[in-house]
Amino acid sequence: MKHSTAPEGVLGPIKPGDLVVMVGCSASGKSSLLAAVPAHQIVSLDRLRAVASAPGDQDATADAVLLQHQILGMRLRRARTSIVDNTSVEQLHRLQLVELAHQYGRRCVAAWVDAPLPTCLARNALRPDHERVPEDVLRWQHAMARAARLTLPNEGFDEIRHHRTA
Ligand SMILES: Nc1ncnc2c1ncn2[C@@H]1O[C@H](COP(=O)(O)OP(=O)(O)O)[C@@H](O)[C@H]1O
Ligand SMILES: [Mg+2]
Repeated sequence: MKHSTAPEGVLGPIKPGDLVVMVGCSASGKSSLLAAVPAHQIVSLDRLRAVASAPGDQDATADAVLLQHQILGMRLRRARTSIVDNTSVEQLHRLQLVELAHQYGRRCVAAWVDAPLPTCLARNALRPDHERVPEDVLRWQHAMARAARLTLPNEGFDEIRHHRTA
């Protein structure tokens, strides 16, 4: 039986079982790049916080992380492609995902997404309340994402792709 195909398109070729880790600040354009990806292949803590509790409930993060780990493990075991649509601006979070993919013998691909800070701030300001992050948080995420570009090559990823959305 033929199952769903890899999400080709702006993200570039993805092999079955690949774990793709989006890396970019809020409003950098990560989710927009995934517009053509089947929804079931996208795993995000935002979504899983809502599943575990309610949209925007940051207190549900620990449960969302548990769910993410379980879901990714199940998908990696079956060689199902997954895209992790979090900011992943913290190196520890990226290293954990690389390790998980490799535990299952799968490839881990980083998709670094960048836009100028003023663009991200403007997009963020236009968002509804529950999707908007505080400006100081966005500035921090943006700086962390820019720094990540330099360290990604040493984090064990099998492939690194760069995307600019403005
Ligand atoms: N290439 C682009 N050009 C113009 N606007 C964009 C582009 N990519 C994303 N946006 C807009 O920026 C906002 C944030 O994009 P989104 O993909 O949700 O970011 P993220 O998932 O990184 O938080 C959305 O309103 C989206 O329409
Ligand atoms: Mg998003």
